Amino acid sequence: MATTAPSHDVKDLGLAPAGVTRVEWADRQMPVLSAIRERFERERPLDGIRISACLHVTTETANLARTLKAGGADVVLCASNPLSTQDDVAAALVAEYGIPVFAIRGEDDQTYYSHISAAVDHHPQLTMDDGADVIGVLHKDRRDQLGEILGGTEETTTGVIRLKALEAEGQLTFPIIAVNEADTKHLFDNRYGTGQSTIDGIIRATNFLLAGRRFVVAGYGWTGRGVAMRARGMGAHVIVTEVEPVRALEALMDGYEVMSMERAAEVGDVFCTATGDKNVIGRGAIERLKDGAILANTGHFNVEIEIPALRDLAVATREARPDVEEFEFADGRKVYLIGEGRLVNLATAEGHPAAVMDMSFANQALSAEHVVAHAGELERRVYVVPEEIDREIARLKLESMGVEIDQLTEEQARYLASWDEGT
Ligand SMILES: NC(=O)c1ccc[n+]([C@@H]2O[C@H](COP(=O)([O-])OP(=O)(O)OC[C@H]3O[C@@H](n4cnc5c(N)ncnc54)[C@H](O)[C@@H]3O)[C@@H](O)[C@H]2O)c1
Repeated sequence: MATTAPSHDVKDLGLAPAGVTRVEWADRQMPVLSAIRERFERERPLDGIRISACLHVTTETANLARTLKAGGADVVLCASNPLSTQDDVAAALVAEYGIPVFAIRGEDDQTYYSHISAAVDHHPQLTMDDGADVIGVLHKDRRDQLGEILGGTEETTTGVIRLKALEAEGQLTFPIIAVNEADTKHLFDNRYGTGQSTIDGIIRATNFLLAGRRFVVAGYGWTGRGVAMRARGMGAHVIVTEVEPVRALEALMDGYEVMSMERAAEVGDVFCTATGDKNVIGRGAIERLKDGAILANTGHFNVEIEIPALRDLAVATREARPDVEEFEFADGRKVYLIGEGRLVNLATAEGHPAAVMDMSFANQALSAEHVVAHAGELERRVYVVPEEIDREIARLKLESMGVEIDQLTEEQARYLASWDEGT
């Protein structure tokens, strides 16, 4: 299949030198991915494979794209969120690293989808998604291309949920590796990466003092746990809302206050949704918010806060600070929405620190290699990342941090595998 020659669409190629400096800075924190890149350069496991990647266009993603290219892949990149693109990085990828990018920070929805479409025009053999957008477009509008695809990878919880739904309906047409399911992904990226960078985004946008404030975290999954942990570390009084009883109990025993969103709405100073669900802060909760309440979301889509209700209830809106919109209600209360309710760590900070994306993107690179190596054998299913890849990434990460761990002795291995060895 001949590909259409991809060009690019970025804000300003003149930003490239600044982007390169930042990409190199991130690379220093990504030793596992660097080691994979060196091996890929030698072995070329992705030789000639066309990849369409739809990821947040950040310094860390740039290093992943460089790694795929080093492995021989023909990569194009588009954004997985209209507000997460770092324009200098997009420019650097095009001008310095020779990787076509279709992404401009702040692009409208129409441009966002036209950029995804441009990436799909590349006729991928391998898709790489963060939120299942490319796979969605292929399954809905580009079915004629489905036969060209060997497989795909998916980065985040929300994307994996969608792909499992597609699989359950018997509609999934190629194998997917759910990168999010790797222990070396969600235990670290979702928890420590999102935890730190979400707090960073809220603070950069507002310069708000968290100490002594009531900080409401909606959802106590991997991201919610990280946000709650780091908000507490900043001295906030953390309140958790949940719908799942075991998670709610866990939050309670981790020492947080747990209550319904309806009640939390009346007492919270800062709110952060982390659920992957919609209308978690819905109209009823919005009506109860205190004057000055700050609303942020770190879940994948901007549906967790019911923004249409916020607009409907407001008698006036204005930009209070860059990326902070003020909504004034009829009774004079004012509440603030950060980054259009889009994932705040990418909208108003820089996304996850490189050291954690090192593991997430090592999973992406090795999963891509796995899909290509096993193309004929994989079924049309959502697979977890093979355990040997997960373990190897943890081993390499520990090694890069200079940490040694013990090894099982033969006697211990035998003991742990036996059922009849007594005390
Ligand atoms: N900002 C980022 O960089 C980033 C990073 C990783 C994941 N994510 C996204 O964050 C979201 C959550 O991911 P996760 O890995 O924590 O998922 P998870 O499944 O581990 O946790 C989600 C939690 O939200 C709870 N929940 C669902 N509906 C709720 C509601 N109405 N009120 C309160 N709680 C509710 C669920 O019971 C669950 O415990 C997803 O959209 C994911 O894609 C974002």
